[in-house]
Amino acid sequence: MAMNIVVVANFDSMSAEAAKIVYGQIMRKPNSVLGLATGSTPLGVYKLLVEYHNRGMDFSRVTTFNLDEYVGLGPDHPQSYRRYMHEHLFSKVNINPERTFIPNGLAEDLEAECRRYDELIRQAGGIDLQILGIGTNGHIGFNEPGTEFGSTTHVVDLAESTIRDNARFFESIDQVPTRAISMGIKSIMQAKEIILMASGGSKADAIYAAVHGPVTTAVPASVLQLHPSVTLVVDQAAASKL
Ligand code: PGA
Repeated sequence: MAMNIVVVANFDSMSAEAAKIVYGQIMRKPNSVLGLATGSTPLGVYKLLVEYHNRGMDFSRVTTFNLDEYVGLGPDHPQSYRRYMHEHLFSKVNINPERTFIPNGLAEDLEAECRRYDELIRQAGGIDLQILGIGTNGHIGFNEPGTEFGSTTHVVDLAESTIRDNARFFESIDQVPTRAISMGIKSIMQAKEIILMASGGSKADAIYAAVHGPVTTAVPASVLQLHPSVTLVVDQAAASKL
């Protein structure tokens, strides 16, 4: 198994480790294609990347593809992932906005939007480095348990547990969208290199199942055991069951 596991003390050291890997990737290849994630987990990484940028790191040739977007939320909606990326990274570094891709959650033809997204990734030459968080149910992107490993970008019905987990970002649980567009498992597995980050005890079971459990669609992250180049960066609480 090629999984490289880095256990660190806490959220800040997890963020520092992951940011270092992203920094190294962009230094080696200034026109890197990054796969980006949202949620609480990567916030510290984006903060550090902004600090690196303020000290001279150049994003002008970088291309990014986000994992997912809620169906029905536009770029200005406070909880849309386009807005999240704008606030936490894109507006604070010198990335070319035309090279920041996120599925369009307002597309009239969602199926066509999924095909378009896969085609854009293909045209960019594939993803060099993909950043992933993990759901408490083992999801990666919004690929919920049961998603086929062969899936490309697709429309998903969010699991009840995901809606509950994400309700903290909305005024009430009724406002959490029930559908999203997500890069598929196959799309994620085609990334040349992957970093999976997790912080906190609520992720410990999912991390255990991803690393030591059977490779099964019941735990989408377990598919990463089959990827040739994965680095798991986890804090002690998330690693507590390993
Ligand atoms: P979180 O979400 O970073 O907000 O915990 C992770 C995920 O659901 O993939």
